[in-house]
Amino acid sequence: MAKVKRIGVLTGGGDASGLNAVQVGLIRSLAAKAPYLKIFGILYGWKGLIGKKPQIIILTLGRVKEISDIAGTIIGTSRENPLESEEKFRQVLKNLELFDGLLAEGGDDTMKVALKLARAGVPVITIPKTMDLDLNGTEYSVGFRSYVEAVAENLRGFKMTAKSHGRIIVCEVFGRYSGFTATEIGLVTDADFIAIPEMEIDLDLIIKQVRKGYRKKGYALVIAGESINIETQDRGKIDPHGNELLKERRVGEFLARQIKQMTGIETRSFQASHPFRGISSAYDSVIGLRFGQKAAEMVLTGGWGKMVALVNGEITSLPLESFEPRRVITPGSWWWELVHLRNNGKI
Ligand code: F6P
Repeated sequence: MAKVKRIGVLTGGGDASGLNAVQVGLIRSLAAKAPYLKIFGILYGWKGLIGKKPQIIILTLGRVKEISDIAGTIIGTSRENPLESEEKFRQVLKNLELFDGLLAEGGDDTMKVALKLARAGVPVITIPKTMDLDLNGTEYSVGFRSYVEAVAENLRGFKMTAKSHGRIIVCEVFGRYSGFTATEIGLVTDADFIAIPEMEIDLDLIIKQVRKGYRKKGYALVIAGESINIETQDRGKIDPHGNELLKERRVGEFLARQIKQMTGIETRSFQASHPFRGISSAYDSVIGLRFGQKAAEMVLTGGWGKMVALVNGEITSLPLESFEPRRVITPGSWWWELVHLRNNGKI
């Protein structure tokens, strides 16, 4: 097999903690094992490939110094979608001729584009990233654990002030189609109700649980996933991949109004959004480094057309299309079981 010489790396979709660590793992491993390789960071995701010339920087060991525990992504990201038009897709293909292979770190939108490119003949490796944890095939995607930790930590303080004033709080959390973030945050913060998109929302049950919690503790807490199934009248902007910006539906604010109206107790809502996505955790840094190392190994062994994945606790690779269909919380899973028990006052 001919030696690969130029590799392009990009990060697509929402930023998440662990992306920089992936780059560190990748660059360090390749520098050690294949110093003849040149690694290019493609700036701002697919956006860096749709202009006449690609927007790139060289990723050297120096550039990735001391970024393993920094959230965000040093090469930038965007929600640009080259599948929006044939012209954009052709331009991306043309710009990719500069490289012998492409590494794409991202969630389902990024992976859909990568899959299309692979089918058009581009050597691609993908690395799972999404704080929503909704990619299939892999047990973990970088970003999830940091967000959960950051929000849970912050809620400790919020609960104290709520208790002091005898208030109810509704914390709305990110999670575009799945309730993994809401579930874990709700369980560790001992929420009185955890509202997730996979379950029907029963307002009377929420009120019952909130009243019960309030009687016992002098305050109550509801965690609500941003994509829960309620009609708020507010609509979010649509991004180039067709996703609604769900934060703009303001489900937390809506629920807080209903709760206040039905209980007469002062209720405050809070959106745990972007500031919490920009905080890193040791877990994401370590797994990010390991994902990057695995991707480097795949580059050197010709493992193109695959996605890095965590399966049964081991880092491995799977066919590119393994991220579909979207992973959600299903009946029978421990996530479902615990949310169900909690929301019905059994645990
Ligand atoms: O997909 C990750 C995510 O953080 C979702 O949880 C959220 O709906 C969305 O991104 C927010 O998008 P943006 O960062 O573009 O506002």
